[in-house]
Amino acid sequence: MPAHTDFPLIPRPSKLSARAGSFTLDADTSIRAAPGTEGAADLLRSLLAPATGLPLPPSPNGQLGLILDPQLGRLGDEAYGLTIAPHALLLRAAHETGLLHGIQTIRQLLPSEALLDTPQRRSSWQLPCVEITDAPRHLWRGAMLDVARHFQPVSFVRRYVDLLAFHKLNVLQLHLTDDQGWRMPVSAYPRLTEIGGHRAQSMIGPSGSGVYDGTPHGGSYTRRELSELVAYAASRGVTIVPEIGMPGHARAAIAAYPELGNRPERHLGVWTEWGVCDTTLGVHDLVLDFCRTVLEEVMDVFPATHVHVGGDECPTAEWAASADALRRVDDEGLEGPEALHGWFMGRIGKFLTSHGRRPMGWAETDTVLPPEFTVTTWRDPSHGLAAARRGQQVVMAHYRSTYLDYAQSDDLTEPPGQPGAVVDLKSVHTYRPAPADWEDEAAAQVIGTQAQLWTEFAATPAHLEYLSFPRLCALADRAWSDEPGWADFLTRMRLHEGRLDALDVRYRAL
Ligand code: ACM
Repeated sequence: MPAHTDFPLIPRPSKLSARAGSFTLDADTSIRAAPGTEGAADLLRSLLAPATGLPLPPSPNGQLGLILDPQLGRLGDEAYGLTIAPHALLLRAAHETGLLHGIQTIRQLLPSEALLDTPQRRSSWQLPCVEITDAPRHLWRGAMLDVARHFQPVSFVRRYVDLLAFHKLNVLQLHLTDDQGWRMPVSAYPRLTEIGGHRAQSMIGPSGSGVYDGTPHGGSYTRRELSELVAYAASRGVTIVPEIGMPGHARAAIAAYPELGNRPERHLGVWTEWGVCDTTLGVHDLVLDFCRTVLEEVMDVFPATHVHVGGDECPTAEWAASADALRRVDDEGLEGPEALHGWFMGRIGKFLTSHGRRPMGWAETDTVLPPEFTVTTWRDPSHGLAAARRGQQVVMAHYRSTYLDYAQSDDLTEPPGQPGAVVDLKSVHTYRPAPADWEDEAAAQVIGTQAQLWTEFAATPAHLEYLSFPRLCALADRAWSDEPGWADFLTRMRLHEGRLDALDVRYRAL
């Protein structure tokens, strides 16, 4: 059994045995794609074409075989088996998703020049002979990208999807709305993007700095761009989970439609500050109608089972001062305005559930998300344990280990990030989504983990990519592999840097 570091794959596969010899890909290589594997074969061709120029045509006698093998289903929907022998390569999986992951393993086994996007001179490409059986430790291996604080072009979001897929990360949570911007068009509410998609300027420096850049910022996607992004990601094994923030983090919507707020007569701009905004959605019927209409369109565009509706950082002072909100408290027999948060999330949760979706929200101090919610816990690991003990699905995302907006080192040369302690590579890699000291029943509720890239302090694709790598490599290794060692990861990561270079990824070198 060779050391995993002889095959520096990220994430580390569950089982790998080296074999003698190598398989050669060249102009004579063809693909035998069994029924149901054509999409995966197309992806393999399109990923290898730019550097290799190889046509890899379909053929019933192809040396490179893709088949659906129900046997592998015992290891879960994402498992795959890869056998590389001198004269044949066989990739097997029970489901297409497994094949898509196996294709990324093939890419990592090739010389890193195969990842370049320009034609290379060599005419043949060697793959080491190997036997791999691989399946993920966690079902949810996510990355959240905040396109609300700083809008990002769809070309960058696609590239981000490519880089997630390369590391077998399978969820992109797209943070589409916040106080500072609304990025998804909703046909019944055109001002959401027309007005809510633009702010006059942005704060420079941390929350409360009082310093602004004087430069307008804005942008939104078209519905078609989002639908195409969903399909693009799906063909690579990545699910896009939309996030629409409510009832807090909704100032951009209130700027567009003041009647959604607690003081309809007040006209506010899209927020230009960072931090927690006091302005929240009201709890009157019009607001619930608005949320349902928005979520209906969101569900049309995003087929993902999970729909994230925020729920974090929702001050209740406006409700306490609103006659409408206090009437709601009375009508619903609630204890006080603080209880409106749970009531609101419950209404939204039931709406999503009645449409066959699973609502998702951020855990907060002093609030409990209704039982149908999958909970993303970020602030305090005890929130995760409490939710798990209530029987809720949990995505563990503690900010000290998964927030990529914090600097990755305290080097003075590091670009400024979210103020606070650094989140270094080791903190990400040694994070335990299902802590060993939790009882088994609670640990079983943990469906995975997720990185968060908030973008108050990072505006450009180059900066976002730099913050993401190599920390996303560490998160991917942690989320996929069973107990990957830190030293073993570092050894693999040193060689993986060559792949990031070939993919022209901006990253912090080890
Ligand atoms: C969060 O960081 N407000 C989820």
